Amino acid sequence: MAPFFAYVIASVAGTSLAVSAVTFTIPSQAHTGSYKYAPVDPAPVGISFEFFAFPSYFTNVTATTQCLSNWKDLTGVWPPIRIGGTTQDRAQYDARTSAYVVYTVANAADAPSSLTFGSSFMTLASRYGGSVVVGLNRGKNNLQNTIDAAKAAVNEMSNLLAIELGNEPEYYPSGGQPIASGIWNPSVDAASQNNWAISVGSAVNKRDIIQAGNSNDSPPKWGAAELIATQNATVKQYIHNYAHHNYPGGTVTSLMSHSGISRNIHVFDADVAAALKEGKQYIFGETNSGIFGWWGRIGLADFWCGTMDYGLRAPSDIQQYLTYLFPSWNGRQLQYCFWGRYSMGAPYYGAYTATAFMANAASLTALDDGNSNYATYVAFDSAGAPLRALLYNSDYYSGSGTRPSQPFVLRGLTGSSVRAKRLTGDSAVARVDQGGKVTFGGQTFTNGDCKISGSETFEPLAVSDGQATVSVKASEALLVYLQ
Ligand SMILES: *[C@@H]1O[C@H](CO)[C@@H](O)[C@H](O)[C@H]1NC(C)=O
Ligand SMILES: *[C@@H]1O[C@H](CO)[C@@H](O)[C@H](O)[C@H]1NC(C)=O
Repeated sequence: MAPFFAYVIASVAGTSLAVSAVTFTIPSQAHTGSYKYAPVDPAPVGISFEFFAFPSYFTNVTATTQCLSNWKDLTGVWPPIRIGGTTQDRAQYDARTSAYVVYTVANAADAPSSLTFGSSFMTLASRYGGSVVVGLNRGKNNLQNTIDAAKAAVNEMSNLLAIELGNEPEYYPSGGQPIASGIWNPSVDAASQNNWAISVGSAVNKRDIIQAGNSNDSPPKWGAAELIATQNATVKQYIHNYAHHNYPGGTVTSLMSHSGISRNIHVFDADVAAALKEGKQYIFGETNSGIFGWWGRIGLADFWCGTMDYGLRAPSDIQQYLTYLFPSWNGRQLQYCFWGRYSMGAPYYGAYTATAFMANAASLTALDDGNSNYATYVAFDSAGAPLRALLYNSDYYSGSGTRPSQPFVLRGLTGSSVRAKRLTGDSAVARVDQGGKVTFGGQTFTNGDCKISGSETFEPLAVSDGQATVSVKASEALLVYLQ
């Protein structure tokens, strides 16, 4: 599945640069050359909200709607959202409560160990302009309660895309979930998922309604291919799509590494193929850097460029990815946060740039082979003409010392100039909530409300004989507009 290696090393004549340029030739038409092309979803980047925190995000965090709407301004479509996570398996539906969610926690930063929610939870979700996946409880083994919740979702939400039956079931034994009190392994879970899909799907009288899988362990174990192999036609008719979670851990450098990200994504190849063979979409239902964010075990800093690269490498095989938003609604901001109540997070800029690159594109390809730190992606319009290119230098820049720069030579361009927007920041670990600065095309998103601010700045790139040369600094990216 790896795209063929297609860049050559060339030295840049007439400059004193010690670094060799990387050269990429933009295909004049999609689906030509030896690259692998992938279709682009109209809303390829979305957000996953932790179940208990969803109402707070939409009622108490001013930035939420604006941050989502900024992406809609780029694509014309509200980004998809998913509401779920560990607390979906701690939540019980309560038809009598008028509250969105009811729970108590000892410390405001804690996730609740149990909670209830009412039909107003679904009403709130129904007000969102985009599609919504709602994650319901399987861990508690209370099928009737989940059916009641599913009926509320179907009744209230015309924007309901799918329902999940359980989150990361491989952790049910360690979470003390009743459904896993006996033997629990992928085949027991698959039988359980399948029975629940039939029970819930038939109770709400809807086919194509279940987002299945939702595990986090590295495939093939707990993966879609393994699950699909256990499913007959009766089950499959209720499955809308398959989802998996992906949290590559590591240091900021390894998380940012373009070659590392490329390798990580290929772990999912067999699962993606198995889902597509069924005619179903395969998505990342939750993804982000690192783990344990909302338990407060903070170890990693922002990797805003990595977020962007990840978002692009993923759709070359995976059609949609939903970035898990670590709750920061209580005012405590974590590095992974895209936004919080008081401040923006640097990863939002990376995801915004990825969205800007893919907006209204029909297909994309990577021109690099994924083995170096330098990437070039090209998006094509529906007529197959190149629309935009994204150049990314994933070298890590700590913020001190000389910032290295990588020359990129682009060939196959037309006209006498093209324009570009630069994604840059103080460093790879810039923390907007701690005063760090990140900009895209010279603009920022305002803390607290996510409104775009500053004047939009394009850099002109001179094209001569179809070729342009531009420098991209370490931990920086450049979005080149080809039309
Ligand atoms: C919103 O914030 C207020 C005040 O802090 C709080 O009482 C309320 O429960 C919050 N709403 C949600 C849905 O969390
Ligand atoms: C299909 O699978 C379900 C659950 O896995 C099972 O209950 C049902 O009997 C199977 N149907 C057929 C026709 O084999």
